Amino acid sequence: MAAPARYHRAAIALHWLIALALVAQLALGFRLEGIPAGLLQFDAFQWHKSLGIIVLLLSVARLALRFALPRPAPFGSGLSLLAAKAVHTLFYVVMIGAPLSGWVLVSTARIKLPTVVMGLVPWPHLPLGQAAHEPAEMVHGLLGWLLPALIALHVGAALWHHAKQHPVLERMLPAGRNANVALAMAGVLLAGGAWLGWAGPVPNLWRSAAPAQPLAAASEAAAPEPDASTAAQPEPAPSASESVDARAALSPDWAVKGGSLGWSTQWSGMPIQGSFKRWTAQIRFDEADLASAKIAVDVDLASSSSGDASRDESIQGPQFFNTAAHPAARFTSTRVGKAGKGYIADGTLALNGVTHPARLRFTLKIDGDRAVASGSATLSRLAFKVGTDEWQATDQIPDAVAVTFTVRAQRKAS
Ligand code: HEM
Ligand code: HEM
Repeated sequence: MAAPARYHRAAIALHWLIALALVAQLALGFRLEGIPAGLLQFDAFQWHKSLGIIVLLLSVARLALRFALPRPAPFGSGLSLLAAKAVHTLFYVVMIGAPLSGWVLVSTARIKLPTVVMGLVPWPHLPLGQAAHEPAEMVHGLLGWLLPALIALHVGAALWHHAKQHPVLERMLPAGRNANVALAMAGVLLAGGAWLGWAGPVPNLWRSAAPAQPLAAASEAAAPEPDASTAAQPEPAPSASESVDARAALSPDWAVKGGSLGWSTQWSGMPIQGSFKRWTAQIRFDEADLASAKIAVDVDLASSSSGDASRDESIQGPQFFNTAAHPAARFTSTRVGKAGKGYIADGTLALNGVTHPARLRFTLKIDGDRAVASGSATLSRLAFKVGTDEWQATDQIPDAVAVTFTVRAQRKAS
């Protein structure tokens, strides 16, 4: 069978797609280290890993097609043919070796962060020992430097063929296109890919596209009032049994019918919001008898969601909520009082194995037997050891975390 005049459509599509992804990947890869530790860096790594795994899958497909489909006869002869073959072979080595070495790298890291491809598909770690880490890091870095050199040689050769009016560029284009179009496309592709990876819109752009969790009173949460009393009053923390007793004595007179419980913080000035999907509250409240008022809230920390599966997994991990060891948080009020037009509930919060005083401020609208309470609290995450190791730094994630809530309740028939 005669060799075709051009590459197969599928081969052409994969060539340009992989080229775009690789340039973005290079730019993002070299930028990674420069992004200070924090959630943005975490996102940037997720993107680098996601794009890398996609390149791996596309490259395996590209290689399979290379053997399965007929392709044009090699162009040229002698040294130039040899150079072309060497560059193309090395491209395949990088296209498969770079993502593989990256995969080994993250699978053997001391702190294993999950990889979730495009925030959708959890990617497993390879079952390898830590001994593979350093060689993989070296190989990954070397391939990262080899790639731009290969691109320079490859694009240089393409330009050379173009100047010599060799019909080479057209082979990598769908039928009916000419070489000038290929060059213009290639220029846009290389510049666009580099911009995508380097300029940072990759992590930011897609983050803003992620479904934001609706948060009641989010604007209030964005500028939390410093709450001196919460931080400064060293009230003795009740023991676990004391708080259980408090609960037993609660005999709630309101049934919670719904609401929301959210948190918001920042990473490098960028707001990050989340909410808890599962929580319960027991409320005893009579405006005329505040001394008997009591509020107890239980929160299932594993139900925290911030609209990004991989970030949520980290937040629930040992460095933040540590839900494996402490799955629930509990607020128990010790005193409820009037404050201006609203109320203050002082109490204790048990979170992550630590119990500290906490204060909720809320407003209340009672309409017959129905009530809506909306409020907020400002918590010191470090007081509860939420954020250990490098996450303790407050220049990226502030210590103060705003918690906001809305509770709809119905008075129980007495
Ligand atoms: C930046 C990443 C790029 C990578 C990884 C890449 C990779 C490759 C590989 C592996 C082949 C060999 C295909 C095969 O025979 O299996 C190839 C061919 C080709 N590439 Fe690229 N390429 C890139 C960018 C470009 C650019 C920017 C241009 C144009 C300026 C270009 C033009 C071509 C052409 C014309 C061929 C066909 C060569 C021939 O028929 O002998 N490539 N490329
Ligand atoms: C197409 C594939 C890929 C390319 C071209 C690529 C390229 C790069 C580059 C250029 C760097 C910077 C290297 C340096 O600063 O020395 C880097 C770093 C890194 N890449 Fe990739 N990468 C790819 C795929 C992956 C994949 C699939 C993963 C993980 C699943 C990964 C994980 C990493 C990690 C963890 C670093 C930081 C390395 C370190 O801390 O030393 N990469 N990558």
